[in-house]
Amino acid sequence: MQCYAPTRPERKSPVVSQSYPATQIMVQPGSLFNQRCLFSDWQKGKSKLGLRDLEGALTARDKVGVQDLVLLDAHKSEGAVLDNLKTRFSVDLIYTYIGTLLISVNPYKELDIYSKKHMDLYMGVNFYELPPHIYALADNAYQTMLTEANNHFILISGESGAGKTETTKKILQYYAVSCPSSALLDTVRDRMLMSNPVLEAFGNAKTLKNDNSSRFGKYMDIQFDSQGDAVGGHILSYLLEKSRVVHQNHGERNFHIFYQLVEGADEDLLRQLGLERDTEYYNYLAQGECTSMKTINDKNDWQTVKNALTVIHFDDSDIEHLFGIIASVLHLGNIYFDRDFKGFAVLNSSPELRWVSKLLGIHVQVLTKALSYRKIEAKAEEVLCPFTVDHAIYARDALAKAIYGRTFTWVVNHINESLENQDPARKTVIGLLDIYGFEVFYVNSNDTGLFEQFCINYCNEKLQQLFIQLTLKAEQEEYEAEGIEDEECMRPGDSTDLTFLEKLEEKMGHHPHFVTHRLANKKTRKTLERGDFRLLHYAGEVTYCVVGFIDKNNDLLYRHIKEVMQQSKNSIVQQCFLPDEGDGRRRPETVATQFRSSLQELTEILMAKEAWYVRCLKSNDNKNSGKFDDALVKHQVKYLGLMEHLRVRRAGFAYRRRYEDFLKRTKIFIRYARTLFATEDAYEICKHELVAKIQAKYKGYRARGEFIKQKEAATKIETCWRGVQARKEKQRREWAVKVIKQFIKGYITRGQAKTTDNSEYLAFVRQSYLMRLRDNLPKTVLDKNTWLSPPPVMTELQIKVVTSAIFKGKKDSYPQSVAMPFMDTRINEQDINIRVLEMVRHERIKYSVPVVKYDRNGFKPRPRQLLLTQAAVHLAEEAKLKQSISYAALKGVSVSNLGDTFMIFHVACDGPKQKGGVVLQCDHLYEVLTKLSLLANKQNAIKVLQGSIKFEIHGGKENVVDFSTGQEQMAYRDKNGHLMVQLKKGGFSVANEELVVIKAQDRGRGVGSGVKG
Ligand SMILES: Nc1ncnc2c1ncn2[C@@H]1O[C@H](COP(=O)(O)OP(=O)(O)OP(=O)(O)O)[C@@H](O)[C@H]1O
Ligand SMILES: [Mg+2]
Repeated sequence: MQCYAPTRPERKSPVVSQSYPATQIMVQPGSLFNQRCLFSDWQKGKSKLGLRDLEGALTARDKVGVQDLVLLDAHKSEGAVLDNLKTRFSVDLIYTYIGTLLISVNPYKELDIYSKKHMDLYMGVNFYELPPHIYALADNAYQTMLTEANNHFILISGESGAGKTETTKKILQYYAVSCPSSALLDTVRDRMLMSNPVLEAFGNAKTLKNDNSSRFGKYMDIQFDSQGDAVGGHILSYLLEKSRVVHQNHGERNFHIFYQLVEGADEDLLRQLGLERDTEYYNYLAQGECTSMKTINDKNDWQTVKNALTVIHFDDSDIEHLFGIIASVLHLGNIYFDRDFKGFAVLNSSPELRWVSKLLGIHVQVLTKALSYRKIEAKAEEVLCPFTVDHAIYARDALAKAIYGRTFTWVVNHINESLENQDPARKTVIGLLDIYGFEVFYVNSNDTGLFEQFCINYCNEKLQQLFIQLTLKAEQEEYEAEGIEDEECMRPGDSTDLTFLEKLEEKMGHHPHFVTHRLANKKTRKTLERGDFRLLHYAGEVTYCVVGFIDKNNDLLYRHIKEVMQQSKNSIVQQCFLPDEGDGRRRPETVATQFRSSLQELTEILMAKEAWYVRCLKSNDNKNSGKFDDALVKHQVKYLGLMEHLRVRRAGFAYRRRYEDFLKRTKIFIRYARTLFATEDAYEICKHELVAKIQAKYKGYRARGEFIKQKEAATKIETCWRGVQARKEKQRREWAVKVIKQFIKGYITRGQAKTTDNSEYLAFVRQSYLMRLRDNLPKTVLDKNTWLSPPPVMTELQIKVVTSAIFKGKKDSYPQSVAMPFMDTRINEQDINIRVLEMVRHERIKYSVPVVKYDRNGFKPRPRQLLLTQAAVHLAEEAKLKQSISYAALKGVSVSNLGDTFMIFHVACDGPKQKGGVVLQCDHLYEVLTKLSLLANKQNAIKVLQGSIKFEIHGGKENVVDFSTGQEQMAYRDKNGHLMVQLKKGGFSVANEELVVIKAQDRGRGVGSGVKG
């Protein structure tokens, strides 16, 4: 058992390092000459192009089609397979794989793909790394053999002319170049290569299908030692088509060697052999009427063969005797028999007879007798019986065939001796099987070779069976039924061809693939002659004519002729006709029996080895280069079972794997290909379902992934958004807190003078009142009851309206007072002396403010607390109530029109206690007087006067305060006893802060002391 891709050991070949000219390594297909040329030129060695370039070119070119049909999408379609082969063929890509099976389509022209560079390229490279090539397969087989130390064979099949022999040669050349070498091994290699032209010369011939058709089967073992050196070889040959020696169909030739000898031998040799340089002259050569061919150069090939003979160790005497035999066959063909009066054959002495006698070393008379008489043994007596002319010709031809056939076997044996390796060490082998091609032909009873072709087709059938057995075991049963039983019916008693046919009908009549004229239905019968039988081979129907079958099967060579041959002086003939052969009275085995048993042997040889397959396909029937005959290729694809093979390979039916590996890998073991096909079919059916399922799963997986991604993204965006919102909200709340705080602060301080803390609140209160007012306007402006009651801040406004009514446009400092808010009081209760409070308790203090009181006479300023109650104005100093003026007694209040803060209270002096009018100064003049006017209802009693203001004091006296403007601001008692209040021009002070009061006495001295009010 073996595995696919073995690890590749390094090649140690010294040959690899040599370089060979690419052009010289090209081997003209079918040319014997080139095989020698190839080898000697390799030894010279010349330039070598870069392998990389070549590899690149190869790979680029190989993009056409698919290089392994297993990879074909439409692998079930025969049309697609053919198209692929055709497409590749159209660009000279003749090789295509089905797994490890190589398909080769005959290009019928030289391709530049067999150079030394190509060999180097494929050496030790993995099978699928490079485009398909016969070198890849050869190399892979070799490497596997080395790593697994087992035997292999490469089965090359295909019909006649498909390229089997060419392929075999390519493989041999590849091994010759790529395997390690030494001087000694070179000899083996030379011999192996050179055995080819010799075998082809003796075993190949021009046929209608192929100018170099192999007319024998060849199995060649190449033996390798454990190092991978090619150390020996062995060739087995099968069933040479001997009938060709004496007869050729029209358009065909005898074996190449005859023409080569006549055309190529020098004059001396021709003379020695008694030959004319005229192929037309010889009966055995001229029947096909195509002795010379443009495509065949017999002269050159002769030289090649002659040289090859020396290489493969044929000594001079061998060569002389070998040519003697070839020549003697030609002479035999020209021997004629006369008829005597009884109708018997008469053989007169002729140059031909003498030459045969001379060349074979048999006395003329003995030879003459042997060819004209038959020896009959009766009761221990031998009687000579003359031949009829027909018999004589038959005997002559039989002798020619026998000599040639046995000589061919001798040549093969001789080559084997020269290739034999004496070393008993274990060797592994690669066998190359180039079996003759299957042929479908049309029956013609004059044709020779039908019997041989029958055997050949049988052989192909067997090998196909073997291929099937190794690859598609389950189909075996089917094939067994088709096996052809031959032996019994072909062993004649006194049979004729026709009795053979009867026996055949008797034995095989029931078989569906067998039909004869008698057994056929009406329609088929028309296509068959009486002596015909038809077989349905794996490759198609073939009709055989039984005429000559018995004879050919018996391969009868009269015993006395054999005995004569044993006397030959020609050493080769001697070896071919050994004395012990004639002794037995036993009938020799028939050809069919021999062939059958040798095929059996071959099958056993092959079964013990690992198989590699090359399937050669004919591109067309006319040897045209570049023509691809679809129908012809299709037929070959069909009968070679390539579609089935593709199917098996496609399904991975790894019949080339180690069972254990295979089992381990696949977990199942398919015993029959039938099961495999069923599995494949079932797979085809449920493939779409599976695809849909896998697709759905995958789509689901993708969608889930996408969903999760989107969800994560959404969360992220949401987080950011919430953050932004939260920050905004925070700012909003901070703002709100500030606003509310401000509002509350404003509310708390609403009664205080307008500050930054309450200004907004007051504005708000005012605004909201006005807004409410807008909606609830009173019915008439004068109807005070329907007015909305204003907020406290607005009551101040009302008071200010009173102030305005009194002072607006009259007193200079009024405009400045408007913005100054009025307070409820300017002195807290706790700051008023408790005794004073006690004294005015029953009047209730409404307002109090600090003032400066000027004495009535001296105008000395004294600080006092002015208290307004419901009933009176009180002036208090500490615990004393200095003066109380009831509102009834208060006649009025005068102020100047200037910006000063002096107030003159006019009081009636109707009692002795009453002190009369009083001069006060107060910073809150407008506030005091407004409150007073409201409390005492004295708006009209407050007067704004210009210049001097008189006021009455006790004792009926009067005093005056003069108001003026000047350079300085001052207040003093003038000489005239008036109080002079002078204000700075254009200046004034509500709070009178800058007003300086100067005592009258100080005025004279000019020194003033300012007192703040
Ligand atoms: N790889 C190739 N390159 C070029 N020409 C080829 C190739 N293979 C085959 N041929 C051409 O096809 C011809 C027939 O090939 P070959 O002799 O190998 O056929 P075969 O299969 O051995 O036929 P037969 O069964 O008759 O022996 C060759 O002589 C050659 O002209
Ligand atoms: Mg061939």
